[in-house]
Amino acid sequence: MLPLKGKVALITGSSRGIGNAIARAFARAGADVVINYRKEGGSSQEQAGQLCEEIEAMGRRSFMVQADIAGKEPVKKLFTETEEKFGRLDYLVLNAAKAPFKPLEKLFERELRQLVETNYIGNIFCIQAALPLLEKTSGKIVFISSLGSRFYNPAYPLGSMKAAMESVVRDCSESLREKKISVNAVCGGIVKTDSFKVLRQFWENIDALPEELFVEPDEIADVALFLCSPGSRGITGQTIVVDKGLSNAICRLPGK
Ligand SMILES: NC(=O)c1ccc[n+]([C@@H]2O[C@H](COP(=O)([O-])OP(=O)(O)OC[C@H]3O[C@@H](n4cnc5c(N)ncnc54)[C@H](OP(=O)(O)O)[C@@H]3O)[C@@H](O)[C@H]2O)c1
Repeated sequence: MLPLKGKVALITGSSRGIGNAIARAFARAGADVVINYRKEGGSSQEQAGQLCEEIEAMGRRSFMVQADIAGKEPVKKLFTETEEKFGRLDYLVLNAAKAPFKPLEKLFERELRQLVETNYIGNIFCIQAALPLLEKTSGKIVFISSLGSRFYNPAYPLGSMKAAMESVVRDCSESLREKKISVNAVCGGIVKTDSFKVLRQFWENIDALPEELFVEPDEIADVALFLCSPGSRGITGQTIVVDKGLSNAICRLPGK
């Protein structure tokens, strides 16, 4: 059973981490997948290449595009290549994110601009560029948010961008209703990816959290996939929390 056979998914920031898991999940479900990453020539590009090969070994089509979503021209290239190579787009997963780990008030102007340009403006560039394609397929957009959208962490200025994007998800789900494009989000708990390795340096006691409260990349990927399946047709403009229950308790003592 390949429910997404013949469909095309584009996952931003999918060379590694959660985006990589989402790309695999969509490919396993039958979709052809466009892989995107930012940094040219390094390990990220290498991992993107390996991922494309793995997806093709599953019998799906895949190609990778280096494009920094913070720029309008690179974003245009990302979607032009998708149309040229695959001729359609059914699912856009807005997963790419990049931010410094320090309090908002300590950000240099360059860091502040990069925070907004990558994590807010870049996502909106992607939505705008994807619209002509998604309109034709009554496509779906899924944004990957995090608990920083609703809980304070001193080293996580990205949280305010996630909160803004959760509003964008609600707003776009209404403004794109007539085009029959659905927009939803997955708000992930803590996932042990490369970015977590940096975050834990600024988060006292994080390692005392029991293992069962950490989320696996696949657990986020499965919900992103669900939001692109017919079973989610009643969900519109919502953000679904996937955090193993971490946010159910107001205070988590170390180890509890
Ligand atoms: N890790 C967590 O605990 C956690 C929890 C909840 C939600 N999330 C969210 O899940 C998403 C993925 O997180 P992650 O931990 O998997 O991140 P990650 O390991 O740091 O990977 C980030 C990916 O995004 C790409 N990327 C970064 N900036 C980009 C840009 N400007 N344009 C295009 N691609 C870009 C990176 O490519 P390069 O390697 O080329 O830079 C990489 O492929 C993010 O939205 C994050 O906020 C993470």
